[in-house]
Amino acid sequence: MAYLSSWRSPSNIALVKYWGKYGVQLPRNPSLSFTLSACHTDMKIIVTPETSKPELIVLYDGKERPSFEPKIKSFLSLVQDRFSWIPHASVVIDSTNTFPSSAGIASSASAMSALALCVTDIDDQINARNGVPDEQWWRNVSGIARLGSGSACRSVFPVASLWGEVATVAGSSNFFGIPLADRLSSLYHSYQDTILIVSTEEKKISSSAGHEMMNKHAYAESRYDVANKNLLRLLDCMHSDNEIDLFMSICESEALQLHALMMSGDEPFILIQPNTLSIIREVWNFRKESGIPVCFTLDAGPNVHLLYPAAHKSIVLSWIENNLSVFCADGFYISDEIGGGPEKLL
Ligand code: PMV
Repeated sequence: MAYLSSWRSPSNIALVKYWGKYGVQLPRNPSLSFTLSACHTDMKIIVTPETSKPELIVLYDGKERPSFEPKIKSFLSLVQDRFSWIPHASVVIDSTNTFPSSAGIASSASAMSALALCVTDIDDQINARNGVPDEQWWRNVSGIARLGSGSACRSVFPVASLWGEVATVAGSSNFFGIPLADRLSSLYHSYQDTILIVSTEEKKISSSAGHEMMNKHAYAESRYDVANKNLLRLLDCMHSDNEIDLFMSICESEALQLHALMMSGDEPFILIQPNTLSIIREVWNFRKESGIPVCFTLDAGPNVHLLYPAAHKSIVLSWIENNLSVFCADGFYISDEIGGGPEKLL
């Protein structure tokens, strides 16, 4: 008998960055992210347990994609003590991303959270558990997604998520993300994220290498300390609509710190590009001149995420089209916004 599951799961963008890990994908500092909407992965998996010919077939948009196999194999072997059917099953995985894979946007958060959802759902089917997923179920999925890619554990909650132990946040853990929507003012529930694609090239340095670099980074301890403080400050100011200036300065400082860490390790590297800096300059000028609260954050790459309240959407989008698209590869940018979390498709 074969089992089928299909889920849509979104990407997320960290405001307080996870950079540095220990053990099996456990974070050195807590992180906080917005859950996105337009940027997501749709995944379908078909599992035949107890087959005489266990195999793994990995497809992307219906076509074989062997380059995805190593990451999926290592994820499946990490979770096989929880899902005892894995070693004896035939598993076919097919996925597509809504954002072009060449867009330089990390797809591991959306793909690995989708995979965690599908595998957990299949396990529920095999064991005839058919209750409605509760809080514990989502926490469990988040912990499983973490094993695929740390940041993926934050993708399974609507609006925003916190991953990592914070003494003052009950239920927070290094092992899984928790939902944050209830703690944020409604302003942040409809926040916009326009992603300016500065380069579509593949990253030259993997995030694993970046995390590894933190193990002997001269600034590691002070970074973890600042990240903890920024997380508390951000949580505090996102509680109301009135501290948007503080929100913006923490977001931008976090983004630049991430890249400053890359530039100041033993084997330094630079992922931002001249156009990244041109955009940052334009953002600061525009904000000063217009008073519109638009700020930036960066992922581990040259692309710029512009964050702003929905009320300013049309003016910001026309400013982007007129003034910033010139810094984007082929003028390409993606209009995204805060999203409602994963959806079961089948
Ligand atoms: O989940 P990973 O191992 O790809 O690391 C993600 C690292 C950053 O995207 C740079 C920051 C973050 O918190 O998402």
